[in-house]
This record gives sequence, structure tokens and C-alpha cells, in this order.
Amino acid sequence: MEVGTIMVAGAGLMGRGIAEVAACRGFKVIWSDVKSDLVRQGLSEIQQSFQRRVQKKKITPADHDRLLGLLQANVSVADGIERASEADMVIEAITENFQLKCDLHASLGKTCGPQTILVSNTSTFSITALGASSGRPDRFIGLHFFSPVPVMQVVEVIRGLLTSEQTCQAALAVVAKMGKEPVLAPDIPGFIVNRILLAWYNEAISLVAAGVKPQDIDRGWKLATNAVMGPLETADFSGLHVVLQALDSVYQATGDAKFKANPLLRNMVQAGMLGRKSGRGFYDYSKKQ
Ligand SMILES: NC(=O)c1ccc[n+]([C@@H]2O[C@H](COP(=O)([O-])OP(=O)(O)OC[C@H]3O[C@@H](n4cnc5c(N)ncnc54)[C@H](O)[C@@H]3O)[C@@H](O)[C@H]2O)c1
Repeated sequence: MEVGTIMVAGAGLMGRGIAEVAACRGFKVIWSDVKSDLVRQGLSEIQQSFQRRVQKKKITPADHDRLLGLLQANVSVADGIERASEADMVIEAITENFQLKCDLHASLGKTCGPQTILVSNTSTFSITALGASSGRPDRFIGLHFFSPVPVMQVVEVIRGLLTSEQTCQAALAVVAKMGKEPVLAPDIPGFIVNRILLAWYNEAISLVAAGVKPQDIDRGWKLATNAVMGPLETADFSGLHVVLQALDSVYQATGDAKFKANPLLRNMVQAGMLGRKSGRGFYDYSKKQ
């Protein structure tokens, strides 16, 4: 089955990136969020990011015009999920909350046509369990994109126990058309990359709690590994609430103490310090915004 139209559910950091890449790679995109204003805001932020790329000379003015044309031609804003019936695939990128995701996939399972493939971008939850909630576990798969989606090359592809070969092939074709590299990952909490990444964040946060400066942790890491960002810069970029939700989910599923969120992270989220998104996390972004 060839996928031409994709509904993207969720207009947060990930939904925005997935919608942008899908539209710019020639898919028709129907974009929704519980707060449809966020989709309109997301569209305007994507346009601003195209302009920034021109200013930084990462793309030419001609590239800008081509990308803007694709975005305007291919993306339509949807209120609610009714228009999921027009989609060949729905990529869900909503808040990392198991019940919210199950409820949405149950509704999508009833609204979509029989051929439609449902996808979750969950960072940690069981694809088999989400697939069961959809009522179409054979046409359900995990595609775990990484942030920022337009930049990061890898997509983890996670088959549930009942995902069909046909669904897997259709999903791999979508990943290829989006210009990404698939890595097949097992359906275990955190898959491959987050399994490593979450323990890394938690350890770095425990160093901050012990009195080490975030700047020293990130600088040391970058100089030692040639990485572009350190753990605390990466956590701030991803969103500290998203990191906390993912740690809680993997800790709950595995009981492994290395995923038990450091209390400092929970306190920061409760204080509204979510990282770049809120203007303050391990670093202060208020002056840069
Ligand atoms: N942030 C990251 O670095 C990252 C990386 C990979 C995967 N993920 C995963 O992607 C998903 C989204 O993460 P994010 O960082 O974009 O989160 P976010 O908090 O930035 O955005 C979530 C969006 O979902 C919307 N939403 C909530 N319930 C909804 C519903 N029922 N229907 C439609 N929209 C709904 C919210 O209004 C919000 O706009 C999560 O599952 C997360 O674990 C995040």
C-alpha cells in the first residue's frame, strides 16, 4: 500500500517536525491537535525556521521559496480527528501519556478506513499495547523520530507482536521518502536509543543535584566525545517534562533504579522549568528568545 496522505496528530515539538518533513517530502498532511491554535502557531514557526535557515546560509532563497510552497500546498489544518478518514497513515505525536494515547488510537481505529495504518511516535510505551487499543494491531507500528526532526537522520521502527509485514514495509517506505534512516528496534520500554539516553540524562541530573555546574557537565561531555550537545543542553532542548514522562514510564515498566527520575528533575518540572520551551531549564533562555 502506498501512503500519500498522512494525518499528524499533535502540534508540539515532534508533531511540528514530522509535519514539516512530511509536507516538504511531498506527502499531503492533515495536521491536528486538541488545541487547533497550536497547529496554526506551528505552521508560522516552521515558516520562521525556513527564514532563519536562509539567514544562516543553510539554504538558499530559492530553497526557501520551494519549501514554503510545499508547506502551503500540502498542509491543511484539521479540527479534531474526523478527517483521519482521508488519511492512509496517522502519525500520533501527542503527549507521552499512555491513557491519552490509548484513547486517541481507539477513536482513530473507529474513524479511519480499513486500510489506514496507525503509527505512534511514543518514546517509551509498548507498541503491542497501543496497537491493541486501536483495534487494528496488524496495521499499527511505532516510528520513533528524533528531535529536531528536520535534522536528525534516524527513525526507530518498532513492530508490535501483531504488526503485519505489509504494514512494516509501508512504514519503511514512508521513512525512506522522508529521507530518514530506519533502525529496527525491539518493542521494549525505551526501545534502543532512549534506553541509553534516559539513563544518561538521569546521571547528568544527579551530578547537578550533587553540586556540579551544568556548564561543566556539558562542556566536559562535548570535549570528551565530540558531541554537539551535552546531556543537560539536550534535555532542555527535548523538554524536561518530556524527559520526566519518559523516565517515569520506563521506570514503571522495568523497575530498574537507573531510570528512577532524580527528584531535582521532578521539582524543576513542577516549578514550570521545562527547558527551552518555557525559557528556563538547566540554562536560562529568556534573553535569547
Ligand atoms: N521531545 C522529544 O525530544 C521527543 C523525541 C522523540 C519522541 N518524542 C515523543 O513524541 C511525543 C510528543 O512529544 P513532544 O515533545 O512533541 O510533546 P509536546 O508536549 O511538545 O506536544 C504534545 C502535543 O500533543 C497535544 N495533544 C495532547 N493530547 C492530544 C490529543 N488527544 N489529540 C491531539 N493532540 C493532543 C498537545 O496539545 C501538545 O501540543 C511523545 O510521545 C514523546 O514521548 C519526543
